[in-house]
Amino acid sequence: MFLRKNNEDIIAGLDIGTSKICAVVAEKRDNGEVKIIGAGVKPSHGIRKGVVVNVESTIESIIDAVNDAEKMSKTDINSVYITITGSHIKSSGAKGSIIISNKDNIINDDDIRSVIDKACNISLPDDMEVIHSLPQEYVVDGQDGIKNPKGMIGTQLDVDVHLISGSVASERNIIKTVTSSGFDVEGVVVQSLASSIAVLKQEERDSGVLLIDIGGGTTDFIVFVDGLVRHSEVFAVGGDHITNDISIGLKVSIPIAEKIKKKYGCSLTSMVGRDEEFFIEGALSTDKIRIPRMKLAEIMQMRIEEIISIIAKHVDSYESLLSAGIVLTGGCCNIPGFEQLVKAKMDIPVRIGKPLDICGQVEVLDAPEFAASIGLVKFGLLYGGEGSYYAFSPKSIFKKFSLYFGSIFRKKG
Ligand SMILES: Nc1ncnc2c1ncn2[C@@H]1O[C@H](COP(=O)(O)OP(=O)(O)OP(=O)(O)O)[C@@H](O)[C@H]1O
Ligand SMILES: [Mg+2]
Repeated sequence: MFLRKNNEDIIAGLDIGTSKICAVVAEKRDNGEVKIIGAGVKPSHGIRKGVVVNVESTIESIIDAVNDAEKMSKTDINSVYITITGSHIKSSGAKGSIIISNKDNIINDDDIRSVIDKACNISLPDDMEVIHSLPQEYVVDGQDGIKNPKGMIGTQLDVDVHLISGSVASERNIIKTVTSSGFDVEGVVVQSLASSIAVLKQEERDSGVLLIDIGGGTTDFIVFVDGLVRHSEVFAVGGDHITNDISIGLKVSIPIAEKIKKKYGCSLTSMVGRDEEFFIEGALSTDKIRIPRMKLAEIMQMRIEEIISIIAKHVDSYESLLSAGIVLTGGCCNIPGFEQLVKAKMDIPVRIGKPLDICGQVEVLDAPEFAASIGLVKFGLLYGGEGSYYAFSPKSIFKKFSLYFGSIFRKKG
């Protein structure tokens, strides 16, 4: 029991990944900076390819991770922002249109909400619902290219919205798992969007950038052009597939393959000498099995190239718009040579994403796999709260984010 409780200025994020569950507590400083005051990381055993497959063991990891974060921050956590991922996440464009009927025809917040609602009421399949609705541009009486129509005079308001939606069942399962762990859900944020908030600079979003988060069970990507989200998608491939390939290729168990990957693995065969080798223990502890490092590199390079080619195929039409190149997050970026291989395959500048504008206990989270957790708390502190979200989906019993002031990156006052 701690004296401090989380509130609007102290919030908690819970990144529920396939490999790890990470809880982060952060507070907003007077100068607007986000200060990390606590974190807890536990291995995740109940998530597969980003979705809950074992509620009980996920609850256990959530409680353990949050307990550690509570102790470190000396804060009682009662509610959290959570990430969502999985191949059920889809993105699409939608349009909304309303007639402005108030007496002076000045467009207000209610009109903006209402036109976004209209765009959201597109016919998604029954098993899908909107997670984020991100306005691209508004049109007032035929005049297009408007980022924020608030205060303008007009009779008709149209909007182009980018919708990120997900499976109702997967979303409810993850929310139910968190509430069953004893925490209210403040908001749900798609993993790639959370990671982008942690590591991308505004100039990069304006110039055009592709963020790729390659974790244990999923590869999530998001494309920004002219400061706005243009595409986002999730594939159910990640580091676990590399481990699996190693397990099959080297005839070792999954836990040993995972250890080998982290200790001896790399992304490029060109990084390995022909005579490099390592030894692993055989079934009898006296046995030592010799493995050429080149064989490991071949297995890993093949799978990493496949993951990159899947992404390349899907972002093909944006290639000429990505002046700021590619930013990588997620645990797989730790594999030596990963950045170089992505650069060679995609032929554009690539960097590994580092969280920006945060202070405090950052060394605990100083690795690319923590981008989503940090982005979550930044989202909650800087862009969440009254005035920049509302529960727009009537069938949803949970808060959803719809950031309707032209850009999701408008900061809370
Ligand atoms: N040093 C390393 N070398 C090789 N692989 C690594 C290294 N560090 C982490 N990984 C891999 O990164 C993956 C975990 O990444 P991350 O923590 O981002 O996943 P996650 O967020 O739990 O999962 P997801 O987002 O896919 O649901 C694992 O496959 C792990 O083996
Ligand atoms: Mg992740």
